[in-house]
Amino acid sequence: MTEIKSIATAEPSERLVDRFGRVVRYLRLSVTDRCDFRCVYCMDEEMTFVPRSEVLTLEEMQIIAEAFVELGVEKIRLTGGEPLIRSGVVDLCQSIASIESLGELVMTTNGSRLTELAVDLRNAGIKKLNISLDTLDPDKFRELTRVGSLDKVLSGINAAIEAGFESIKLNAVILKGRNDHEVVPLVRFAVQHGIDISFIEEMPLGSISEHNRSEAFISSETLRENLKDYFEIEAERESDLSSGPSRYYKIAGSSSRVGFISPHSENFCSDCNRVRVTAEGKLLLCLGNEHSADLKRVLRENDGCKQALKSEIVAAMVLKPEKHHFDLDAAPQIVRFMNATGG
Ligand code: 5AD
Ligand code: SF4
Repeated sequence: MTEIKSIATAEPSERLVDRFGRVVRYLRLSVTDRCDFRCVYCMDEEMTFVPRSEVLTLEEMQIIAEAFVELGVEKIRLTGGEPLIRSGVVDLCQSIASIESLGELVMTTNGSRLTELAVDLRNAGIKKLNISLDTLDPDKFRELTRVGSLDKVLSGINAAIEAGFESIKLNAVILKGRNDHEVVPLVRFAVQHGIDISFIEEMPLGSISEHNRSEAFISSETLRENLKDYFEIEAERESDLSSGPSRYYKIAGSSSRVGFISPHSENFCSDCNRVRVTAEGKLLLCLGNEHSADLKRVLRENDGCKQALKSEIVAAMVLKPEKHHFDLDAAPQIVRFMNATGG
């Protein structure tokens, strides 16, 4: 009895360090696996979502956020699915943003509800936004999101700009033959609006039938070479916190930057500082691997005890693998979809 107690209340080390010496300072927390879009690279047309009883409550998310901050996490990103369709999300933002010693709270969204929510999010303490935008063509937008409306998202982007976030970045997943010809117009759009943009190589998360991921692959290198015909771009040194998958380039004559997230062609695992928690409370140590720890079980079995949770998180660090291996030609090794992974 005493022995069990001493394990459960053991003071965890105050930093999260994995077997390779990488320090985890960044948590991506998915607040829902549901989404009002069905992007062709992210989901199948027919999706089964996690039953609501299996999704973390907002209170559980708050405890998880506090635990990670107490363990040295400085930055939290709320993701989905689409985070803004979760009811109560603005209150959650407010309470996470007020955790002492959290450096910044940011969010990734598809923009569909920003027209209504941008000001509330800014007031709640969200500092930066990533907004997905793969095309400026309304028909193509409908094709790629299956159900989304470009107009709504463009109006959401404008609302976000007016709400005065510290920074706004567009994310575009580029598929060969679908939207690769839009890379230049998308960069122009970002420049005109004074915001950043990143191009993302599609990742094989979940099995999809809509297209062949291998045939749709186009490397960041190809996009960069193409852009150089239209813009003067110069590689930027990353600051510590933004360190991660995006390689940024300054665009001459503008305040905008263009980034490239290249999980296939430019492996970024060696300085990975992040972990993810899914909407059902699974701690994922790597985007491209299945290793996980069940934080919801620990919370529910221990009456929401934060100390037990912290011990579990610290113990899970040994599961963080050295790197991901994505193979577009093999059968998908990762069965979970991006919406279940937490963007
Ligand atoms: N590969 C790469 N990016 C993806 N996203 C969703 N699914 C995939 C995938 N399979 C991106 C979206 C969005 C963010 C949440 O993740 O474009 O910007
Ligand atoms: Fe929704 Fe984002 Fe997935 Fe698109 S990529 S379906 S917006 S979660």
